[in-house]
Amino acid sequence: MKVSIILGTRPQIIKSAPVYAAFRKRGVECEILNTGQHYDYEMNRQFFSELELPDPAADLNVGPGAPSQQVAAIIAGLGGLFEKTIPEIALVPGDTNSALAAGIACVKSGVPVAHLESGCRSGDYRMAEEINRRLLDHMSRVLLCPTLRCVSNVKREHVLAESVVNVGDTMYDSLLVLAPRATAPDSVSKLGLERGGYVFMTLHRAETVDDPVALRRVMGAVGTLPLPVAFSVHPRTRARLKEFGVSPHPNVKLLEPLPYIETLGMVSESKLVITDSGGLQKEAFWLGKPTLIARDTTEWGEIVSTGAAILVGTDPKRIERGYEWSRNVGAAKFRSAGRLFGKGNASAKVADAVEGYLKKPGRD
Ligand code: UD1
Repeated sequence: MKVSIILGTRPQIIKSAPVYAAFRKRGVECEILNTGQHYDYEMNRQFFSELELPDPAADLNVGPGAPSQQVAAIIAGLGGLFEKTIPEIALVPGDTNSALAAGIACVKSGVPVAHLESGCRSGDYRMAEEINRRLLDHMSRVLLCPTLRCVSNVKREHVLAESVVNVGDTMYDSLLVLAPRATAPDSVSKLGLERGGYVFMTLHRAETVDDPVALRRVMGAVGTLPLPVAFSVHPRTRARLKEFGVSPHPNVKLLEPLPYIETLGMVSESKLVITDSGGLQKEAFWLGKPTLIARDTTEWGEIVSTGAAILVGTDPKRIERGYEWSRNVGAAKFRSAGRLFGKGNASAKVADAVEGYLKKPGRD
């Protein structure tokens, strides 16, 4: 049995690493195909070494470009690879443009797809990721859902998969392994911050950072918070800050995109997280930190329902009120953190589900 894991962006590498380890543990032949959608070392290869993934068997190096060009290059590149050697199944994590392109390439070459992180929905069609994840679910044979809510979503949409399994979230597996090493992050001392005395922030969504009004509003609002803000800046966001002439308030300390363990450390030592990232919403929840989600919708309604996070959009008043709200979020809100997304054994369940699918009698 040969499994190809197809990825290309930072969050996809984090989701895939424990699954690769689970396959290897069972002696399943498994390779990584890297699209190269994220091309800076800090956004891609750094995570391979940190998460102990081998070099990819192939790297398409699609690099920068318009989304349609990237998607086209990935489809063509993977199609070319599949002409030479074809995996028995492809595991495709998440909802990025790489994920959509991988799904299309697989379907066109007759490779069955297992979609990792299937079924999450924000209901916001302005987000490229919402379209990507819906389309990918409909192209996949095996839907690996991180929560029960995700299972209900795909069932409600009558997605024609052969197998739908609630496996839990493999990001939680990664976090449990690496969080014990995420102590005393360098950035805390480098920025002169106090442990437990700062806000950790990331922003990278096109809807937030490509809109000059939205970006200015958020940057203005966080600059006036009573605590300093450590801001890990995505390359896209850094480019937009420059392009729109937005100078961060002195209260906001800029950081390069951080390695994974350093990010977990920065969250662990923070008082509060502000983010528009899907992955960081979950990591903050698992690490017991209240979160202001700088969006109007989220694909992780599970967390908002617990009361550990709230949606604040990009409105300065809502951000200010959100900060006040966060001061009264107690530990009770995080009680379900160790079970809502599984118990840290999602990767083993992924391997079970994929093996089960491939061994199914009569599979075409
Ligand atoms: C992508 C995913 C998003 C995920 C995010 C994690 C899509 C539609 N979105 O968004 O779901 O949460 O990755 O980071 O696939 N850039 C660099 N260097 C890099 C990567 C990006 O400079 O290594 C810059 C480029 O200017 C690029 C821009 O960032 O055009 C956006 O990158 P892109 O990969 O299109 O989307 P992300 O915003 O990273």
